[in-house]
Amino acid sequence: MNKILTPPHILAIDTSCDETAVAVTRGQTVLSNVIASQAQLHRQYGGVFPTVAKQAHQENLEPTVQAALQKAGATWNDIRAIAVTQGPGLAPALEVGLRFAVALGEQHTLPVVPINHIEGHVLSVLAQPRPRGATARLQQPIEPTLPALAVVVSGGHTEFILVKTVGRYQRLGATVDDAAGECLDKVGRLLGLGYPAGPVVETLAKKGNSSIFPFPKPMTATKTFDMSFSGIKTHSRKLIDQLEKTNALDRQAIADFCASLQEGVFEHIIYKLTKLLKETPVKELWLGGGVAANVELRKKLRSLAGEYQLPFRTPYSQKLTGDNAAMIGVAAYYFWKNNPDFANIPTPLDRKPQWPVDNR
Ligand code: KG4
Ligand code: ZN
Repeated sequence: MNKILTPPHILAIDTSCDETAVAVTRGQTVLSNVIASQAQLHRQYGGVFPTVAKQAHQENLEPTVQAALQKAGATWNDIRAIAVTQGPGLAPALEVGLRFAVALGEQHTLPVVPINHIEGHVLSVLAQPRPRGATARLQQPIEPTLPALAVVVSGGHTEFILVKTVGRYQRLGATVDDAAGECLDKVGRLLGLGYPAGPVVETLAKKGNSSIFPFPKPMTATKTFDMSFSGIKTHSRKLIDQLEKTNALDRQAIADFCASLQEGVFEHIIYKLTKLLKETPVKELWLGGGVAANVELRKKLRSLAGEYQLPFRTPYSQKLTGDNAAMIGVAAYYFWKNNPDFANIPTPLDRKPQWPVDNR
């Protein structure tokens, strides 16, 4: 008879971009998920400034690890492995996290498991909150029906990923230029909405009319499931210039612009996704990544999933949509399921700034 193993406590670290994130997870359960955001530091540059990110990670990692352990009610004696994002992401930022994780592994004699950040976003939909009042008891795990189609929409990535099994992925389409979140951020910046502009665009869009400024529909003639957002950005720039010249960019026009922009970006994703679902039989639809916090995008995907009678999954909390380490811990749990002894992990753990999710 197979021995049933209890999932180990994992301390997970993600420093792929501008959040210093540390979590403690056990199986799919998130015991703590601490994020030290650098958004305030990067605001003055209107985007992430790599050397500033590197330094902030160096300063934040130690206290964020302590906070994650404390919030989880755990000590180093409970931890069985350290999981860390190896890529993709900003090279100097990844490097800090990897070095720190390796040093912690040596200090506490723990294995260090390298994780792909995009795989983390994909598996974020399988994370579960800690059950209230039960510290020792584990919940029923979420058992997805596969294959699933995972849509990852963030500031750095916009991808359609076929999840054949957990750990076996195939990228079926991706943006050929800007990511969807990047497009919202860049256009939002032109509108003076600060950084990151995505959440502000969502708030303002609620007061706007999405049909006032119709956006071009990119790549409708191409057969692939790839996407492009740079045309939407160029179109926005021209339109904003015109509106500014005629003094027509008042509060209502900005709200209408945000609603129209959101519609243009999300409808492009939906257009390609619909095409993909028509040709690819899958059993579930998943949505992860920073832009998955957007209620309108969730609504659109949920409704599309309904049309195809597919269960729809998205992270249970907003803290799991943007960059976080709990999703890295969940990915490491699946690594452990296949390799309970954490054996034969390659070393050294070099950063992989351009690591596609389907290249293992
Ligand atoms: O996953 P994430 O934290 O970082 C990357 O891996 O890129 O995603 C950040 C992106 C930013 O572009 C941000 O503007 C966008 O997610 N975002 C949103 C919302 N919340 C975050 N975009 C639209 N609506 C939101 N509510
Ligand atoms: Zn991310």
